Amino acid sequence: MSSEVQQQLVSYLNDAHAMEMQSIEVLEKAVEIAGDIQLAQLYRGHLNDTRDHERYVKQRLEDLGESPSTLKNLAGKAGAMGLGLLAQAMPDTPAKLAGVAFAYENFEVAAYEMLRKVAEIAEDQDTVSMCDRILPSEKQAAAVIEENLDLAVQRSLEETAGIPGPGAGEDSGAHA
Ligand SMILES: [Fe+2]
Repeated sequence: MSSEVQQQLVSYLNDAHAMEMQSIEVLEKAVEIAGDIQLAQLYRGHLNDTRDHERYVKQRLEDLGESPSTLKNLAGKAGAMGLGLLAQAMPDTPAKLAGVAFAYENFEVAAYEMLRKVAEIAEDQDTVSMCDRILPSEKQAAAVIEENLDLAVQRSLEETAGIPGPGAGEDSGAHA
C-alpha cells in the first residue's frame, strides 16, 4: 500500500483506539449510575466486550509498527473527535445516560464502518477482519440500549419526579 494510505489507516486505527479507551471510561461510570439492575448488567456486559475491542485495535497498531509511546498519548485524542464532550457531560439520570450510551454505540458503528473502508483500500485484511469481528458487537449494543430506553426513562422519572412508571403498582419496592 502507498505510504499515504498506510498513514490514513494508522490514523483511523488511532482514532478507534482512543474511542475505545473513552468508551471504557464512560461504561465504567455508566455501571455505577445505571439506575436499574438490568441497565447496569447491560453496560457491564458491553464494558467487557469494549476491553476486548481496545486490545484488538491496540494489537493492530502494534502489528503496523506503532510504538507504545504513541499509544500512551491516545486517550487525549478522543477529545478531538468530540467524544470527550460526551464523557465530560456525563449525565446524572438513567435516561440521559442511556441516551449518551446509545449515541456513543452508534458513533462506534460509524467509526468501524469507516475504518473498514480504509482498510479495504489499504488491502489490510487483518484490519478488515477485526472490523467484521467488532461491528456486530457494537451494533448489538446499540440495539439493546435502544430496546431499554423506555426502562431508562421510567427509572429516571421515578428517581427525579417520583412518578411511578407503568406496572409500578404491581412490583412497588422491587427497585428501591
Ligand atoms: Fe461499543
